[in-house]
Amino acid sequence: MAAAATCIAVVALALAVLEPGARGLDRRADFPPGFLFGAATSSYQVEGAYLDDNKSLSNWDVYTHTQPGKIMDGRNADIADDHYHRYMDDVEIVHDLGVNSYRFSISWARIVPRGRLGEVNSAGIAFYNRLIDALLKKGIQPFVTLNHFDMPHELETRYGGWLGAGIREEFEYYTDVCFRAFGDRVRFWTTFNEPNLLVKFQFMLGKHPPNRCSPPFGSCSSGDSRREPYVAAHNVLLSHAAAVRNYRTNYQPEQGGSIGIVIAMKWYEPLTNSTEDVRAARRARSFEVDWFLDPIFFGDYPREMREMLSSDLPNFTSEEKKLLLNKVDFIGLNHYTTIYAKDCIYSPCDVGTYEGNALVYATGGNPQIGKPTAVGGYYVVPEGIEPAVMYVNHRYKNATIYITENGYSQHSSTNMVDLMSDVERVNYLKDYLTYLSSAVRKGANVGGYFVWSLVDNFEWLFGYTVRFGLYHVDFDTQVRTPRMSANWYRAFLTGDEVHEPRRADS
Ligand code: NOJ
Repeated sequence: MAAAATCIAVVALALAVLEPGARGLDRRADFPPGFLFGAATSSYQVEGAYLDDNKSLSNWDVYTHTQPGKIMDGRNADIADDHYHRYMDDVEIVHDLGVNSYRFSISWARIVPRGRLGEVNSAGIAFYNRLIDALLKKGIQPFVTLNHFDMPHELETRYGGWLGAGIREEFEYYTDVCFRAFGDRVRFWTTFNEPNLLVKFQFMLGKHPPNRCSPPFGSCSSGDSRREPYVAAHNVLLSHAAAVRNYRTNYQPEQGGSIGIVIAMKWYEPLTNSTEDVRAARRARSFEVDWFLDPIFFGDYPREMREMLSSDLPNFTSEEKKLLLNKVDFIGLNHYTTIYAKDCIYSPCDVGTYEGNALVYATGGNPQIGKPTAVGGYYVVPEGIEPAVMYVNHRYKNATIYITENGYSQHSSTNMVDLMSDVERVNYLKDYLTYLSSAVRKGANVGGYFVWSLVDNFEWLFGYTVRFGLYHVDFDTQVRTPRMSANWYRAFLTGDEVHEPRRADS
């Protein structure tokens, strides 16, 4: 009986999908000419080959090996998607999607395994050369991230990761090696992926290596959650600026590429229309986005942060301010969700929240702001992408924006039929794209959009318990299979008829 019902549901779903779509956007042509459409991954999450060809151990290799209990399923990314060995097949599936760009990151530990005091690893350089060349051969623009959460473990030990000022020179050296080796073919560089989340997870919540925090945010063996995230962010910002200065001076004039930074950005809606909650939403945005973009555009941290943190927020010297000014060609935004912001200055809150130092409580579940997804705190609120993009557009001088990540997660324990017929993901992507196109029509200067992710992969603290891929991956056989969402994306991009997905039960 149950099997028959499932069968009927699958057939009904297939038929529903065959109906031509009528709702909202359904064509690539709704976006400007030259718009980049792509899919994204990162080195630690997909490459595997964790000790191949002279790569050194990264911070995440050591963390997952020494503290498996911190990862939901106790697993690591020693093999992950084995992309290091299967990159040619992966270029093929990128190509099959009909995208014109692919966003990936370079593993620092593969390029300069021991930092600037050691050798450049020619095998690591050769790997990314092969990947870049294979992409270009298929007409796919590499969109390259220089740091996506991972660094050589040796440097984390030597400098305390981003906490030590010495890491700045290391980053400048490593990025210089990359510009020199790959810059003749790479048109799009970003220095950091989500540095705002990186330093919070590392130094405020203590959940990513080197696991530093203090109460009320967490109980780590050492750390200072009120001060260290801001010191680390300071070092990240100065590292970013030095890398961009070097690129602009020594590489860009001849190579002609562009360089930016990728910020994680939720949209905060005030929980109520009280002045306090409206201000809380504003403050939360400052502590999330303006924290990194204000220094790069205007040379200093936002006023709200200075008022709240006073001397816990480091100062830039006048030379550093000059170094920071106008140090991006574009802004990358990773946007997944919208969340309510509630003021915690005038009313009591649970202070151990992500936005804690802003004295803002963020909630999406009470009341529910949108359908929940497999990752806690990520709700489906497509309309939120529009004000998020418009906010960045207005505040940062109409800078070019790329949506460098947007995607939908499923629990790995979901049954195979639903894992593959991922109607929820199709609707998510389609609806977010609809609101993104509306921002474009309102004048936002958006240059591209990347789905997270090309393939299911190692999702940090969640291990393999959640899946974000357009392609399903069987981690025992490494077989990649396109989901309904991959087929939808291809149809959308290639101009084939786009079919309207609908739930079987609706
Ligand atoms: C942001 C991160 O850049 C990426 O590494 C992560 O897998 C996705 N979001 C999904 O959580």
